[in-house]
Amino acid sequence: MIAFRAAEQKDAHYLIDIDIKCFDYAWTPEEWRQVGKYCVACVATWNGTPVGMAIFCNDHAGSIEIVKIAVKKAYRRLGIARRLLYNCILYARELYATRLVMVVPESTLQPGNPEDVSEWLTQLRFRAQVPLLKDYFTFYGEPEDGVVFTLPIPLT
Ligand SMILES: CC(C)(COP(=O)(O)OP(=O)(O)OC[C@H]1O[C@@H](n2cnc3c(N)ncnc32)[C@H](O)[C@@H]1OP(=O)(O)O)[C@@H](O)C(=O)NCCC(=O)NCCS
Repeated sequence: MIAFRAAEQKDAHYLIDIDIKCFDYAWTPEEWRQVGKYCVACVATWNGTPVGMAIFCNDHAGSIEIVKIAVKKAYRRLGIARRLLYNCILYARELYATRLVMVVPESTLQPGNPEDVSEWLTQLRFRAQVPLLKDYFTFYGEPEDGVVFTLPIPLT
């Protein structure tokens, strides 16, 4: 059975495992420490075990940034990310934020890239913004531009 709740300290190794399995560039321990200080995490559990996560931060400018959202392969296309997103929206509403923001590496939006999430984001009504964020990411020492996707927060 699927359930959603705030992440707890005991979930740490599950979240790291999801990160490693879902992304080419998983976070370093230092990045996890930084996130732990400033962000909130929600986990999706399957029979009690975390299988998905959303990590989001309040940028104090009316936006909530989703810094990471991922679901383990075996549990995809079941609506889990959609419900994680809904939890972000509930959190955002509590803070009177007016939009969700997600920044995606530009290379993942190239046609043919299996990591391409643009269709997923568009389905969920996110829209890409210009300009790109120059050198927003660093992957193994190499800078990469970021594409900002935003979603106005529905009032109800
Ligand atoms: C992107 C990701 C989080 C989606 O998780 P998910 O739980 O499978 O997504 P959902 O089941 O909630 O999908 C919601 C809708 O989004 C769309 N969607 C989901 N995955 C998609 C894909 N790979 N391609 C196109 N559309 C997709 C579909 O319309 C889907 O609804 P449907 O299944 O009824 O058609 C998951 O594939 C993942 O973890 N990917 C690797 C990490 C990643 O890229 N994270 C996003 C960084 S921005």
